Amino acid sequence: MTEVSMAKEDVASTGDLVVLKSVNKHFGALHVLQDIDLTIARGEVVVVIGPSGSGKSTLCRTINRLETIDSGEISIDGRPLPHEGKELARLRADVGMVFQSFNLFAHKTVLENVTLGQVKVRRKDRKQAEERARTLLDRVGVGAQADKYPAQLSGGQQQRVAIARALAMEPKVMLFDEPTSALDPEMINEVLEVMQQLARDGMTMIVVTHEMGFARSAANRVVFMADGRIIEQATPDQFFSNPRSDRAKDFLSKILHH
Ligand SMILES: Nc1ncnc2c1ncn2[C@@H]1O[C@H](COP(=O)(O)OP(=O)(O)O)[C@@H](O)[C@H]1O
Ligand SMILES: [Mg+2]
Repeated sequence: MTEVSMAKEDVASTGDLVVLKSVNKHFGALHVLQDIDLTIARGEVVVVIGPSGSGKSTLCRTINRLETIDSGEISIDGRPLPHEGKELARLRADVGMVFQSFNLFAHKTVLENVTLGQVKVRRKDRKQAEERARTLLDRVGVGAQADKYPAQLSGGQQQRVAIARALAMEPKVMLFDEPTSALDPEMINEVLEVMQQLARDGMTMIVVTHEMGFARSAANRVVFMADGRIIEQATPDQFFSNPRSDRAKDFLSKILHH
C-alpha cells in the first residue's frame, strides 16, 4: 500500500500541486463553499481575497483537512487527501499553515516549537532537527530568540516563528490565512518580507490577505471570492486595473480607498 502510493508521488512530481474539483461544503444551511474549482501549480503564489464571510478561511482549512468537504475532490501532489491517522499527520506536515493568531505552543521555547514536529512527524534525529530549526529561525530573523517562550516575543516575531515552524516540516505548499491581520502596523512588513522571500525562493503559496501591496508584488494570480464562490481570477495587474465583476469592483473600491 505504502509502496504503491510512493510510486504515485514520484510520477506526479511536476505540474499541478493543489487541485480542487467541484468542492462543496455546508455549515448547516449555509453553503459556504460552492462548486470550487481551483488548481495551483508548483511554485505558484496565489492570493485569495474577498469580503469577510466569503469562505476564504474555510477554503484554506479544507486543503489541510481541518474541515471535511461534502462533495468534490481535493488532491495534493496527485494524491487525494487522506482521511485519518499517520497519513493525515503527514499531509498536515506537507501543507504548512500559518494563521492570523499566532498558534505557537505557549509552554515550549521557540526552538522547541520549531523542532518538535520534525522529530515527531518527520522522524528526524533531534540534533539535526535543532540545527535545521536554528537555520530557519536565522532565516526569518529571530535566531536570537531561540531560547525564549512565545509570550516574550512581539507578534511579528511570533508570526515569523510560526512560519519557520511550518517550513521545518519541508512542506510542499504553504497556506497563510491573514497572517498579518492581528499585527500592529509596524510589524506587518517584517512578516510580509519573509513571505516575499519565500515566494522568490519558489515556494508554492496560497495566501489570504488584505495586503494588496503583497498581492501586487508577490502573487502570480489573484483569486476573488464572494459568498462561497470564486467570482473571478486574474493576474494582479489585470485584476487591480480591470476587475470584471461588480462584486470585485465594489470590494476593491472599499479596501483601496480605506
Ligand atoms: N465552524 C463553523 N460553523 C458554522 N459556520 C461557520 C464555521 N466557520 C465559518 N462559518 C461561517 O462560514 C462563512 C465563511 O466563513 P470563513 O470561511 O471564515 O470566511 P472568511 O475567511 O472569508 O471571512 C461565514 O458565514 C462564517 O460565519
Ligand atoms: Mg477568514
